[in-house]
Amino acid sequence: MKQPKRDLQALEDDHDASFSDLFPFAAEENSNPLSENFYSREEILQLLKQNEQSQESLEYTFSQHHIVLKQRPSQVIGSRIWCSAKLLCEWLVAQPPSLFQNNSFVDIGCGIGLCGILTAMLGARRVVLTDLPDVLPIALDNASINNVSERVSTLALQWGCPLDPTHEAALLADFGFDVLIGSDLIYFSELVRPLIDCLLRLFSLHQRLPSHAARPLKFYFCQAERCWVPLATYLDVAKQYFLFDEISPPEWGGEYHLWVVSERPDVPIPADPEALEALARTIEVPLIEHRAYAHPQQQLPHRDGEGER
Ligand SMILES: C[S@@+](CC[C@H](N)C(=O)[O-])C[C@H]1O[C@@H](n2cnc3c(N)ncnc32)[C@H](O)[C@@H]1O
Repeated sequence: MKQPKRDLQALEDDHDASFSDLFPFAAEENSNPLSENFYSREEILQLLKQNEQSQESLEYTFSQHHIVLKQRPSQVIGSRIWCSAKLLCEWLVAQPPSLFQNNSFVDIGCGIGLCGILTAMLGARRVVLTDLPDVLPIALDNASINNVSERVSTLALQWGCPLDPTHEAALLADFGFDVLIGSDLIYFSELVRPLIDCLLRLFSLHQRLPSHAARPLKFYFCQAERCWVPLATYLDVAKQYFLFDEISPPEWGGEYHLWVVSERPDVPIPADPEALEALARTIEVPLIEHRAYAHPQQQLPHRDGEGER
């Protein structure tokens, strides 16, 4: 049933508003799995405000690079921009041209494609934007809007699923891939195991490239802290398979992280498919109880001026 027009301010002022007072409004606007297991009152209010203020088109400038992006904030999680993507872009644009020139990038969980599109503008030889199939058309449109379609393609890549020959061909084509990037990929505990699995498969695939020994694969990964995600626990699991070097600028204040993720010298990731499957089966991620609807005073940590969480 269509809800009456909400008064956001009244809802915000009403600290006795229950989850079910807020939820219908959120559910109406957002097809994401809004449930009281995942979202606090603050977060729901924030999402509602974001949707109310959101535009179909966004513009960003990183150094001299101007990017225009379409978004669909009321659709799936990937069809809006997230703060970590902007932070990763700020970091990318400050890097030397050698990071991009002659290198091919794969953007994991690209969403609407901001980071991948920027790497193309910064000189990447080729960029593969990957995400769930529903999200990719908007990312592809954004590549076109920003005139980088020639070097940017999309690939449906669902974490936790084996790479099929189509994936392998797309990723290994044209001298393969050199750098992985990703922003804001962990927001539910259920995503961690598939994400580690996907990374293992990409690192394993990279070994087939002649360039592998001279230029091992690196993954630049920017991630927000969220009060319902025990990131440190997940990091401990992921560190069994990969090295994580934190390179976050101090001004991020611990609320956002940027890691360079690489292969551990003492735990080689096998190229052999059977050995890889055996390694992937060892990934054990504790599935946490998502915290219940936190009402009413629990505040999310946030950066001043940033609405996206
Ligand atoms: C919070 S969004 C971040 C999007 C973008 N990187 C950004 O920072 O703006 C998380 C992204 O991960 C993608 N994602 C979630 N689960 C996935 C899965 N199992 N396989 C592939 N992508 C997934 C979502 O579709 C979404 O685009």
